[in-house]
Amino acid sequence: MKTSFLSEIGRRTEEPPISWLMSLRLSHPRVISLAAGFTDQETLPHTETLALLEDIFHDIPRAKAALQYGSTQGDLELRDLTTRRIHTADAGKSAKKLPEVYSPGRMILSHGSQQSLYLVCEALCDPGDIVLVEDPTYFVFLAIAQSRGIDCRGIPLTSEGPDLASLEAKLEGLKRTGEIKRVKMLYLVSYFQNPSSITASLEKKAAAMKLVKKYERAAGHPIFVLEDAAYRELRFSGQDVPSLLTVPGAADRLIYSGTFSKPFASGIRVGFSLLPEPLLTTCLRLKGNHDFGTSHILQQILSRAISTGVYDKHLELLHDRYRAKAAVMGTALVEHMPASCQWPEPHGGLYFWVSLPETTQAGRTSPFFKAALKADVFYVPGELCYADDPTREKPHHEMRVSFGGASIGDIAEGVKRLGAVAKKMCR
Ligand SMILES: Cc1ncc(COP(=O)(O)O)c(C=O)c1O
Repeated sequence: MKTSFLSEIGRRTEEPPISWLMSLRLSHPRVISLAAGFTDQETLPHTETLALLEDIFHDIPRAKAALQYGSTQGDLELRDLTTRRIHTADAGKSAKKLPEVYSPGRMILSHGSQQSLYLVCEALCDPGDIVLVEDPTYFVFLAIAQSRGIDCRGIPLTSEGPDLASLEAKLEGLKRTGEIKRVKMLYLVSYFQNPSSITASLEKKAAAMKLVKKYERAAGHPIFVLEDAAYRELRFSGQDVPSLLTVPGAADRLIYSGTFSKPFASGIRVGFSLLPEPLLTTCLRLKGNHDFGTSHILQQILSRAISTGVYDKHLELLHDRYRAKAAVMGTALVEHMPASCQWPEPHGGLYFWVSLPETTQAGRTSPFFKAALKADVFYVPGELCYADDPTREKPHHEMRVSFGGASIGDIAEGVKRLGAVAKKMCR
């Protein structure tokens, strides 16, 4: 296909791995997909959503507002409800008057949190700029970076968040080469990380933020931290961890993003972000050009769901459901995978991150992946979750398996099939 007439970004943008995974599913209809980060199919809140819509449409001014354009920033009622939820999670109790950091005026509602991630990259980074990401990280974020010509560099993860010694060594190295001037942001998926399921401790993420700030003088500009809390509300065991918004003085360098997709319904594409100036104004201008506002009716559904308690009730149901599904997947992994494979136990989110022996390649072109497809099961090859960082080798021996979208029966059967492949191929 001739592409020379396309824009620079049009020519540069490769097929995102998410499109490849989706087309794989369509071309293999019998396959059990443990790849998709879909939400649980059986518990999707269809009767609740129908009742919410009826509520909205029986109130004529509300109905007309829902069917009209909203604002670029998003519905004030939903921004107010959302910032209150974040504050309550962080403070452990609700407050009448929110601290300024949680002000609805600092929030943008977006088309999924994916749009927030895109807007931030668009507002902050030129081609050649550097974003530090976790090793591994959310692969669709890497696709945004690829498209926009952003250079991502990986920081290894520990069981409590980014490895601080490696982060410091990376920043020092970038300072030595002069590339620090291109470092714009550190991207952290801090709750039940996609793909590793690790939740960063407040101490680790605060220390990472402090460390990055130390290099601002050498960079000659602010270096932001994007805390992606997409899975925060999906905790099914243990205690919530406060976000970076609770760290004094952090707010002017922090972008906090989250979503209603995972905790309610992924078809209701509404996400949110809290941003400092000048990013807030810049992202609003960019969003004005993207769509001048997220679907108003979807925002109204969520406002009603939260204010009537339907949202929290559904969340409780989801916690029980994911706890049960994670247990089925965990048991099946123990039963079927060879003893040489390892994974951390998730306490929330949607994923198990399985490491095969380092000598076993499980990437998208590997015999392992092909054998799994032949056995009618597939997963996200872990290699997709690593940035193309020239300073280290990418691992190829990991896979992300999700208990989100698959039924309980398919989870057990899918892991059994994967286990059979692994027993043959793990060296
Ligand atoms: C870490 C992370 N961030 C953001 C998103 C975007 O989700 P949404 O656009 O549905 O809010 C996802 C989706 O899987 C994700 O895993």
